[in-house]
Amino acid sequence: MARRTQWKLRRKLKFCGHIAIKLLYMSTATHGLARDVSQPLSENKHLLKWIEKMAELTKPASIHWVDGSQEENEALCAQMVDSGTFIKLNQDLWPGCYYARSDASDVARVEDRTFICSLSKDNAGPTNNWVNPFEMRKKLKELFNGCMRGRTMYVLPFSMGPIGSPMSQIGVQLTDSPYVVVNMRIMARIGMPVYAEIDKDSKRVVPCMHSVGMPLGPGQKDVSWPCNPEKYIVHFPETREIWSFGSGYGGNALLGKKCFALRIASNIARDEGWMAEHMLILGIENPKGEKTYIAAAFPSACGKTNFAMLIPPKGFEGWKIWTVGDDIAWIKPNANGHLRAINPEAGFFGVAPGTSAKTNPNAMKTLARNSIFTNVALTPDGGVWWEGMTDQPPAECIDWRGNVWTPQIAAETGAKAAHPNARFTAPASQCPTIDPAWEDPDGVPISAFIFGGRRATTMPLVYQAFNWSAGVYIGATMGSETTAAAAGAQGQVRRDPMAMLPFCGYHMGDYFRHWIKMQRNLSQTPRIFHVNWFRKDENGKFVWPGFSENMRVLKWIVDRAHGRALGRETPIGWMPRYEDLEWKGLEAFPRETFDKLQSFDSATWKGEVMAHEELFLQLHDHLPPEMIYERELLICRL
Ligand code: GTP
Ligand code: SPV
Ligand code: MN
Repeated sequence: MARRTQWKLRRKLKFCGHIAIKLLYMSTATHGLARDVSQPLSENKHLLKWIEKMAELTKPASIHWVDGSQEENEALCAQMVDSGTFIKLNQDLWPGCYYARSDASDVARVEDRTFICSLSKDNAGPTNNWVNPFEMRKKLKELFNGCMRGRTMYVLPFSMGPIGSPMSQIGVQLTDSPYVVVNMRIMARIGMPVYAEIDKDSKRVVPCMHSVGMPLGPGQKDVSWPCNPEKYIVHFPETREIWSFGSGYGGNALLGKKCFALRIASNIARDEGWMAEHMLILGIENPKGEKTYIAAAFPSACGKTNFAMLIPPKGFEGWKIWTVGDDIAWIKPNANGHLRAINPEAGFFGVAPGTSAKTNPNAMKTLARNSIFTNVALTPDGGVWWEGMTDQPPAECIDWRGNVWTPQIAAETGAKAAHPNARFTAPASQCPTIDPAWEDPDGVPISAFIFGGRRATTMPLVYQAFNWSAGVYIGATMGSETTAAAAGAQGQVRRDPMAMLPFCGYHMGDYFRHWIKMQRNLSQTPRIFHVNWFRKDENGKFVWPGFSENMRVLKWIVDRAHGRALGRETPIGWMPRYEDLEWKGLEAFPRETFDKLQSFDSATWKGEVMAHEELFLQLHDHLPPEMIYERELLICRL
């Protein structure tokens, strides 16, 4: 049946609900699966109606209801190998692994194309891009009109958080990208069990529309990475909706991640009295078997995945770090007033460059199978490589743009084999240190929060806030150098409150207020700390060895949280002295270097406080009074 006639028929059948969908798409796109993929897998009327409406708008050639099975996954991967999106890696070396190269213009989150379209501009605040929601809806209608022509629209139900957990949330993403489907299968719980949850009708579903924005004309040959130069990553906080157009990459396209689990969830969390944070969650087990969980917010590409999978260094025999999550935490007070946290994700979308058997052996073991690699380099034996993976680069490989790369070419032109924001998508369940409680529906108890930026100067290795509101101030005024995780200039210090600047779905001043208010529901207040692994010396070299050695800082933090470690009071907070840290195994680290790392310079800090002002001026009419007073107190102490 010609597509045009199909659409005419479609209109006639408009009132027959999902039967119309079935009839129309029956004969197309089964990818060799025994199942008829056009057959709806849910009976939820709202869902069916929405899908019908969206299909009418985007006009896909077929609809595929994703069941999440292994068989389906293999069919989709095989289809992408055929279309050139995927290269199947050498299965002897990389079992179950695939490789993708994105379009060179679609390599990271696009913050300037990300919009919070709340009814009032004031609700989005000055740190978010705002467009009037009525205008934006009009624009989206234009963009999405016919945008899936010639493609399959996948119906992808997903749960953020373990299925059935009272802290979990459900979304359905409609997407024309099979790459997104197979990535989301790793990053979230998807498929049949999620339809079952939806059909129970107990939970609200967040609708997530996604298109790469490149319709295909009849007979038009597809490209390996379809996308559109015009990108829109749009959130409607009041109606809890996401619309993403033009990108197939990472947080722009895997809508359960930043769009839902942070920007939309931060709105839900504010309304319901919990917190959606850009935080890793880890458990520290000491040799006595005592376990303490902490959550830590570092901006994008500032060390969350590495910290979450830390392996204790020499001198810490009998200690163990357990991984709960590496990027996002949903945190809620329980009936006893204790904060409990879940990781809403099921996989890691981790920065590849710099990841090695030395820096992060747990990540290397996690990504060794059933993983997807995007924008790393391809080696002649059908494997992958990226800068920092091995000391010795391969003699030759194909770089992330598809060009021949050799160490010599790199030396001459500076070409990178892997894009700095190249990523692996790997199942969390494969992490050797995954915490036994990582899927506990009630979450894990949180004893401390850590904030940390990437700062070459000023910020010491570690200090502790005097109390909750001083800690909120520290988080709120956090600064960090920009990284390759977002498109744009790199290495510039910007304020990134709680590592949430690109991810808070409402007014940042109200977000600080929410943080302040949270404490009132708590019987136990977690302690708050600030760390900086990235201080540099006069020669531009990192002063602190980092990675495993961060355990020394973590131990002090845990001991402080339990009220059993010493420190000294300084104008900015409590700091460990050299003798307050455990140095066993790192005795060679000079005391003077540590003192330099921890040095606090009044003049530099006066400049730092002025930089806080820059953000506070922007937010002033929503700032909670605690932030003003904390600032005054800090100035007085300086
Ligand atoms: P997102 O996934 O973007 O949110 O990033 P992330 O916060 O998980 O960052 P990740 O752990 O992937 O680290 C990013 C970069 O920082 C990598 O190149 C790491 O090698 C580097 N890094 C991580 N921890 C340390 C550390 O302790 N010291 C130093 N010098 N570099 C580190
Ligand atoms: C980040 O940028 O913080 C990430 C990667 O975790 S992305 O999913 O692309 O947002
Ligand atoms: Mn992140």
